[in-house]
Amino acid sequence: MKPKVQRYFQKTSQNFDAIYASEKSLYQRLADLLFHGVIEQRFKAAFAELGDLRGKTLLDVGCGSGRYMLEAARRGANRVVGLDFSQNMLDLAQRHLKHEGYDKSSQLINRDFLEFQDQNRYNFALAIGFFDYVAKPENYLIKMRQLTTEKIIASFPKKWTFRTLIRWVRLSVAGCPVYFYDRKRLTKLFKDTGLDSYEIINLSRDYLVVIRMERNTN
Ligand SMILES: C[S@@+](CC[C@H](N)C(=O)[O-])C[C@H]1O[C@@H](n2cnc3c(N)ncnc32)[C@H](O)[C@@H]1O
Repeated sequence: MKPKVQRYFQKTSQNFDAIYASEKSLYQRLADLLFHGVIEQRFKAAFAELGDLRGKTLLDVGCGSGRYMLEAARRGANRVVGLDFSQNMLDLAQRHLKHEGYDKSSQLINRDFLEFQDQNRYNFALAIGFFDYVAKPENYLIKMRQLTTEKIIASFPKKWTFRTLIRWVRLSVAGCPVYFYDRKRLTKLFKDTGLDSYEIINLSRDYLVVIRMERNTN
C-alpha cells in the first residue's frame, strides 16, 4: 500500500497545496465548497486545541506541504519537525518555511513514519489527513504516543457521509487506497493502543481527535 499512497502524493502535491492558497479560481472555490471545507475546519480546530505554542515542540506526521508547520512556527513554536514520504510535498514545505524565514527552526524528514527513529519527545504531535491513508493505524498511533508528552491531534475521515463514496471512487480511480472510520472503530483503536483520555470533535467530513497524554497512564 505504501508505494501507492506515496506515488499518489508525489503526483498531486501541487494540487493539494493549492487548497490552502488564498487566491483561487472559480473552479477551485466550487471544489472547496463541495469537498474541501473540512481542510479549513480541521486547521482552525487543531490550532484552537494547540493554544499557545511559544517554547513548545511539535512533530507533524504526514506534514505534506508544511502548512501546519508554518502556522506552528508563526505561533512561536520552538522547534517544528515535519515528516513525510513524498519528496515533492517536502519541497513545497521547505519553500513555504524558507519564504518566512523558519527553515532554521524547522526540520523536514523524508521517511515512512514507522521507520522514523528519534530520541526526542515532542509536546505535540499532529497527524492531519494522515490516517486516511493507513491500512493499520495501531502501530502508527503507538509510535506517536511514544514521542508525545502533551497532546496528539489527529483527523480520521468519517465512514458515513455523502462524500465518502465519491471520495473512495475518486481515490480508487487514481490508484490510492483510502480508509474510513466510525466511532466504534475509533473506540476500539484507542482501547487497543492504550489511549483512554481523548475527545472526539465532530467536523463535517472528519473526526478530529484530541488525545491528552498526561491523562493516559497506561
Ligand atoms: C492529505 S496529506 C496531509 C498533509 C498535511 N498534514 C495537511 O493536512 O496539510 C497526507 C500526507 O501524508 C503522507 N503520508 C501518508 N502515509 C505516510 C507514511 N506512512 N509515512 C509518511 N508520510 C505519509 C503523504 O505523503 C501526504 O503528504
